[in-house]
Parts: sequence; structure tokens; C-alpha cells
Amino acid sequence: MTKKNNRDWSEKDLRKMIVDQRRFMWRDDMIDRISSSLNLKHGMTAIDVGCGLGYLGWTFWKHFGEGGTYIGVDCSEKLLKDAREMSEEWSVGGNACFLRGGAYTIPLQDACSDWTMCQTLLMHLEKPEAALAEMIRITKPGGAVMCMEPDNLSSSLAVPFSSRPSITLKERMFWFKAWLIWAEGRKRLGKGDYGIASKVPKMMADAGLVGIDCRCNDIPGFIQPPYETEAQRYWLDKMREHLEERDEEDEKRSWKEYKECFIAGGGSQSTFYRIRKLAERIREINTGIILDQIRSGSYYAGPRPKGFFCLTGFVPE
Ligand SMILES: C[S@@+](CC[C@H](N)C(=O)[O-])C[C@H]1O[C@@H](n2cnc3c(N)ncnc32)[C@H](O)[C@@H]1O
Repeated sequence: MTKKNNRDWSEKDLRKMIVDQRRFMWRDDMIDRISSSLNLKHGMTAIDVGCGLGYLGWTFWKHFGEGGTYIGVDCSEKLLKDAREMSEEWSVGGNACFLRGGAYTIPLQDACSDWTMCQTLLMHLEKPEAALAEMIRITKPGGAVMCMEPDNLSSSLAVPFSSRPSITLKERMFWFKAWLIWAEGRKRLGKGDYGIASKVPKMMADAGLVGIDCRCNDIPGFIQPPYETEAQRYWLDKMREHLEERDEEDEKRSWKEYKECFIAGGGSQSTFYRIRKLAERIREINTGIILDQIRSGSYYAGPRPKGFFCLTGFVPE
């Protein structure tokens, strides 16, 4: 992990994110279609960089795992320890192993992988191109490289209808502007690019991959009474928890991080304080209303594009 990007994914909340939210990340039929487009076959060697708890391993296992090998690489020993234990459940019929290592210096030899992948890794890196070059280095000629990454920058600017009290157009524009400044600052500080997915196909072409393709995750953010799916109930519950159980220390830390990025992105101190005030005012007005809507089963959020992509290419033969 670089010094600049010092998020520890084994911390309670972040770890929870890479367990809970992964349950609703990709639909099975999309995983099947991606596997078929990459010609995945049982017995392959697959390497997952920034593997976390091994989500991509268990998600794709049925497409390559029989007699196959999955190698998860991550910089967090704590996550790897849990990933090893969890893999005993899912790596039936094949072999799963985990290595501690960085995305810029993957501790594996050249051309040892049939299929190299990552998910939500490049978006956190200062030098995503260097990580992609490493992924390509360890992939065999003809092998596949797959990056599942979001374009949070674009999706956050979507304005789907919802039952939340609306803000004024002026406030919304102010909010969007601040978000763009924050994202720019995050990038300048080497904390990663929130719009990374839109750049990956070009990065892949520049790095010499061929047959480059892009698929869009087809699960939109969508919450409608009577909340018939497990995913809708999960997201509703998350929102209720977030509104009911405020963690002031955590909020302080988040605002401090936000301010650092905002200033680095070219924002001024005074605009930062205006944004913070606006956010606090919105929260004050909205909390009671949204909680009442959740309790009475009337909360609604129209479909929002997820802005999450599967970007693939092949190493030339
Ligand atoms: C958002 S999590 C994604 C985990 C997993 N790919 C998933 O989708 O569940 C990012 C992961 O990348 C790892 N990571 C971050 N920077 C890294 C680096 N420079 N080298 C290796 N791993 C890194 C983190 O420890 C974390 O496990």
C-alpha cells in the first residue's frame, strides 16, 4: 500500500463493505456472460490483485475452479488471513492460495497467469497504469486481463427521483461543483481516481492489450416499497443505521479527509465551510423525514445507474 493511500481494508467498517455489499454486486447471469466472453475454462490459473477477502475467486469459481488455481494477492496480511480461511469453503476441487504483495510489484514471475483480474483496486491507486502493467506482465500471451472498476465521478452526478426532500437547483449545483473539486483533489493527492473506469479501456490499449471490451453492471440503485428484494432491504437498513447511529468521531475524521482533498482540488476554506454547513443543514432537515418514510414503508429511490464496469482485454499472442 502506498503511504498516500493508507486505507486499511481490514478495519471494521471497510471490511464489512467488502463482505456485505459484495452479495449484491453482480448478477449471476452477468458473471456467466463475462466468463464466456473471456473463454474461462476449468483448470486455469487465475490471479486476483488487491483480492481482499477473495470475492472474485468465489464468484467466478464455478467457471474455472475444477482443477484450477486461484492466487489472491493483497497488501493486507489481516485480510489475507481471513481470505485463506474463507477459501476452504469455496475452493472445492481446486487450489486457492494467497500472497502478500503490492500491486506495483506483484511477487510472481512473468507470464504465469491465464487470467489476471482486479476489482475496485485501480480506483484507490496513485499509479493505476503501473498496476495494470504489472497485471499484464504476469499474464501469459493470449491470456485475459479483467478490471472491475467504477466511475463514481459520473454516477454521483445522476439525479434520479426520490422521496427525499429536494434541495434547490442552486444548492444542487453548488454540491456538484464541490464534489468535482473534491474528486480532483483526491486524485492530486495520489489517493486514486473516482472516475477511473472511463479511462481503463484507453489505459489497456496504451499498454498493448487487444480485443478490449467493456460491460456495464446492470444492477441499478433502486428502492421501492414493499422492498421485495434482499438488496433493497439491505440498502434501506444501511441507510436507517447511518441516520440513527451517528458516530461523531468518524464524521470528524471524514470531514478532515474531505477538507484535505477539497483544498488540494483548488477549493477554498470558506467554500469548504459553506459545503459543510449545507450538508449539516440537509442532514438535520432530512433525517427525521427519511426515518419516518422508512418506518412507514414509503421511502422511494428511483433507479440510479451504478456506474460500475467490467473492462477486459487480452495479451497479444
Ligand atoms: C476495495 S478493496 C477490494 C477487495 C476485493 N477486490 C473485492 O472486490 O472485494 C481494495 C483492496 O485492495 C488492496 N490494496 C490497496 N492498495 C493496494 C496495493 N497497492 N497493493 C496491493 N493491494 C492493495 C486493499 O488491501 C483491499 O483489500
